[in-house]
Amino acid sequence: MSKELESLLKEERVFKPSSRILENSNVKRMMDVHNIENYEKLLEKAGNNPEWFWDNVANELKWFNPYNKVLKWDPPYAEWFLNGKFNIVHNALDRHAKGKNKDNIAYIWEGEDEETKKITFYELWREVNKFANALKELGIKKGDTVSIYLPMIPELPVAMLACAKIGAVHSVVFSGFWAKAFQERINDSESKIAITTDGFTRRGKMIPLKENVDTILDKTPSIKNLIVVNHAGLDIEMQEGRDLWWHEITANMEETCDTEEMDSEDPLFILYTSGTTGKPKGVVHVHGGYAVGIYATLKFVFDLKEDDIWWCAADIGWITGHSYIVYAPLLLGITSIIYEGTPDYPDPGRLWRMVENYKVTVFYTAPTTVRMFMKFGEKWPGKSDLSSLRLLGSVGEPINPEAWIWYYKYIGNENCPIMDTWWQTETGMHLITPLPISDLKPGSTVKPFPTIQADIYDEDGNSLKNKGGHLVIKSPWPSMFRTLYKDPQRYIDAYWSKFKDVYLSGDVGRIDEDGYFWIQGREDDVLNVAGHRISTAEVESALVSYKGVAEAAVVGKPDPIKGEEIAAFVVLKEGNRPSEDLKNSLKYHVRVEIGPIATPTYLNFVDDLPKTRSGKIMRRVIKAKVKGEDVGDITTLANPEAVDGLDRAM
Ligand code: WT7
Repeated sequence: MSKELESLLKEERVFKPSSRILENSNVKRMMDVHNIENYEKLLEKAGNNPEWFWDNVANELKWFNPYNKVLKWDPPYAEWFLNGKFNIVHNALDRHAKGKNKDNIAYIWEGEDEETKKITFYELWREVNKFANALKELGIKKGDTVSIYLPMIPELPVAMLACAKIGAVHSVVFSGFWAKAFQERINDSESKIAITTDGFTRRGKMIPLKENVDTILDKTPSIKNLIVVNHAGLDIEMQEGRDLWWHEITANMEETCDTEEMDSEDPLFILYTSGTTGKPKGVVHVHGGYAVGIYATLKFVFDLKEDDIWWCAADIGWITGHSYIVYAPLLLGITSIIYEGTPDYPDPGRLWRMVENYKVTVFYTAPTTVRMFMKFGEKWPGKSDLSSLRLLGSVGEPINPEAWIWYYKYIGNENCPIMDTWWQTETGMHLITPLPISDLKPGSTVKPFPTIQADIYDEDGNSLKNKGGHLVIKSPWPSMFRTLYKDPQRYIDAYWSKFKDVYLSGDVGRIDEDGYFWIQGREDDVLNVAGHRISTAEVESALVSYKGVAEAAVVGKPDPIKGEEIAAFVVLKEGNRPSEDLKNSLKYHVRVEIGPIATPTYLNFVDDLPKTRSGKIMRRVIKAKVKGEDVGDITTLANPEAVDGLDRAM
């Protein structure tokens, strides 16, 4: 049986950067300063001397006390900027609030109901100080953990920044999760304070968050107080002695607050991420290296300049929002959008109207969102003037070439390069990504960011060229996670045990003849058909490239002879109807695109695929259905009704 993942889908198109983008880019400017001729030379120089690269970046930030060593690498443990005294908030807020950026807008916030707020750096700094003082008064000290369960409202970044400012560790839990998830994470992190809101609306429907939190707080012994933001104006019950209104405890607070001088390696936050099995992993990031890594990537990948309007359309409850809505844009002193609602509410024109209204210049979203808009059709973006856009981004899953081209054409007007950034909660920052100076191939995340040594390994740790295998990282990077909270053994077992001193990402991918990376998905999404390992993402991509198909999910159905057979679930674009003919055409299409072994044996049309609230298809659920097994825990599903749809389709 072949051990290599078959990589059969070939994408031949190449998009060159325009000279307009290239010449004005931050990365080109940096290369000029150091007399670096081109992209290849940059990767070579940074690869040979990562400490030179990161020292240069770190010098653009403010240190209370300079570090005396850039890196200590004792695999699997890295320390960065040793003995430096630093606080990420000192850089994200203090220096802007007192400097020339004082009155620049830090955040433009838009609520689901179209209410808007503009918050300057100075105002944000003042709100953070007041809330930080309130936390101190409640007894929060350096090293304490605070659990935050808030929707996309300005108080969410304020709460995070306030914690960081006084040296407390925040643990944000995505507000779309069930309260049970909040309970588990509070207990794992032993938080003293929890923060939530009375409620918020999702597609016009009220979610009573505080009421939900009330059902779990008798099972969280570490919690002393619950702070409640009055956002929805709901008439809620406040428990005497435990519950406090945000606006009351901040009302009389001082507008200044000292920033705690932290060690570079002191923890900044815990963010829980789901592993393949069992309990969530508490990924720990630190002040110094994390700040340097996310600052560099936002500056060089998304090329942000002072007058840019940046919109990272993710939720702050995920790493994408932590890194690229809260911390990195503030470090760079630029304006970001925070949007409370869903992308297609009240209609599929919402995002595009916002791009026009706020003259967004750089826009970052997930492939699932792009495919959703493909399904609605290009008439929706066509209604708005998107000419302010200069650069686009993608993150979270492989973007299939058809979606890439659609995004390029209808959102970017064939004018904006797409930065398809590969990274993880654990990596904190982009690791494999284009830069504005790279040639792009739709569906490829291009090359490792300067200094990063990425590779594809076979089972024995040999490097593979043009064959699928394990995506590994062979060098440390500043914003790498330092451990899993209270589970140091799992840090070693899950990431550092398969190959010696090498980080196992858990993804599979391929490097092509030009050194370009093609990420194919998680290892557990790999099918094994008649001895060939085939990635679900490739079959899905082939299905989605067929006219009329909006989305597809592919899983393996155990087969005694072939190992697995391919079962596909297909969502059609509006105006297309399921039929036996279409089913056969689709199977034939995959056969032609990828090859006979990748042809789905089963193909079913469904209205919707089961997805997590972050938009990832939950193949585990589909797989269980296909195998006739119990679907297990589906509390993290955004659309549980899609599970019944699978039943009806089969
Ligand atoms: C997993 C990490 C990184 C922030 C959002 C998700 C997949 C991420 C890409 C990309 C292909 C991607 C990987 C990775 N992924 N970006 N550009 N192309 N796959 O963070 O929840 O920690 O998930 O998302 O499978 O391992 P996360």
